[in-house]
Amino acid sequence: MISLVGFSQCVPHSQAIGQWKNPEDQFSEGYRQLESWCHIAKTLEKGLVDGFFLADIHGIYDVYGNSRDAAHRYAVQTPGVDPMLLTSAMANVTTHLGFINTYSTTFHAPYECARAFSSLDHFTNGRIGWNIVTSYTHSAEANGIGKMLNHDKRYDRADEFMDVVYKLWESSWEKDAVIQDVEKDAHTDPCKVHEINHIGEHFSVKGPHMCEPSIQRTPVLFQAGASKRGSEFGTKHAEGIFMEYPRFFEDAEFMTNKISKLRKQVSEHGREPHSVKIMMAITPIVAPSEKEALEKETWLKQFNSPEGHLALFGGHTGIDLEGLDYDTPIENINLEGMQHIALKWKGKTITQMLSQRPPTCVGSTKQVVDRMEELISYGVDGFVVHPMIQPQSHEDLVNLIIPELQKRKLFRTKYDHSTLRGNLLGSEDGLSDSNHPSAKYRP
Ligand SMILES: Cc1cc2nc3c(=O)[nH]c(=O)nc-3n(C[C@H](O)[C@H](O)[C@H](O)COP(=O)(O)O)c2cc1C
Repeated sequence: MISLVGFSQCVPHSQAIGQWKNPEDQFSEGYRQLESWCHIAKTLEKGLVDGFFLADIHGIYDVYGNSRDAAHRYAVQTPGVDPMLLTSAMANVTTHLGFINTYSTTFHAPYECARAFSSLDHFTNGRIGWNIVTSYTHSAEANGIGKMLNHDKRYDRADEFMDVVYKLWESSWEKDAVIQDVEKDAHTDPCKVHEINHIGEHFSVKGPHMCEPSIQRTPVLFQAGASKRGSEFGTKHAEGIFMEYPRFFEDAEFMTNKISKLRKQVSEHGREPHSVKIMMAITPIVAPSEKEALEKETWLKQFNSPEGHLALFGGHTGIDLEGLDYDTPIENINLEGMQHIALKWKGKTITQMLSQRPPTCVGSTKQVVDRMEELISYGVDGFVVHPMIQPQSHEDLVNLIIPELQKRKLFRTKYDHSTLRGNLLGSEDGLSDSNHPSAKYRP
């Protein structure tokens, strides 16, 4: 069975830049309304989807033209609200759907991270996941929320960040620390709550953890870094790896090799290679027939904001394409932002890039699911399904794509577990498996 995760970001639109102009899109305003988000959560749960992933960033994209003007003009992942504050509301109207929140190891402290995720894991009865990111937005540094390190150093800090949160989640509170013994007037046995006394290069954290253990203790961990250092980090810590390789659509051999290399790296960390779900990003434009899907594509494309996509590219990579002729190859790249995006477009033109932004999969329900099936045969475990417009694209996933996947026995027909880790990875007790690096801190 494959895994499916819905995708969004608490902004008017995340990747489909320009769709705020589309009268069928309700998220230009809906992104700041609880009922809009609750509608998506209920829709995804109706489709038995594993989780709802919410991306997040910490600064406005200001690389293109050395200015934030394009980001504002074209609503390039701005304005935005905080997805962590939204999760409880969506959890309250669902019972099985997981929620995967993005949280930066560059711009936050591990102690507050541990408390936020434990709290959400309590509130959701074990349905929380964490998209561990090292942030690439230099503009965030100016807001006083942390220091921007270089690309690989950000991952070193993230590694130490993980050690701290594992200690807080797994070893600080013993499982029977809370006794609630009225006769002895003792709520918690202090001998069973421990300081962690972490002292490292980036963090000094005494502990103990503020929260008593939640069902999953460590949230289900996702990661999306695609560079050499990013993959090293992801294959060590992640239980779900998000991949965003438009090139996969063109190159089956590249994809198969990349996935087997990732699985090998997972086993080099002492983990079972299939204990990590490799989830590929896909943006379907789907309709019952091919003709309708192609018409829908033409209709959606008219709202595209080309310059907005260049502002997004600048934000992602730190590369300013303003003034470059649209048919001149992009040569001057740097690797300080998202390396795989910079490398993918090196030597290609802006015109070529814009023709694939966002990288969609267009077709009838049957054609889109055929394509998904082909990708599965290359080793992908599931999909992160990006919307073109909201909530309509999520409804298409649930009403068109999922029934076809179920008909082909590729997707569940009921939830088997109550936790996210149970539904995604089959964990019976909700805890990370014994070979995961968090488990070594578990008493
Ligand atoms: C599919 C995908 C999703 C990502 N989502 C976020 C996000 O929501 N917020 C964020 O700050 N970074 C996000 N990142 C950025 C990564 O955390 C990382 O900073 C970036 O990819 C650079 O590392 P790399 O060169 O190893 O890929 C994402 C990356 C990818 C590939």
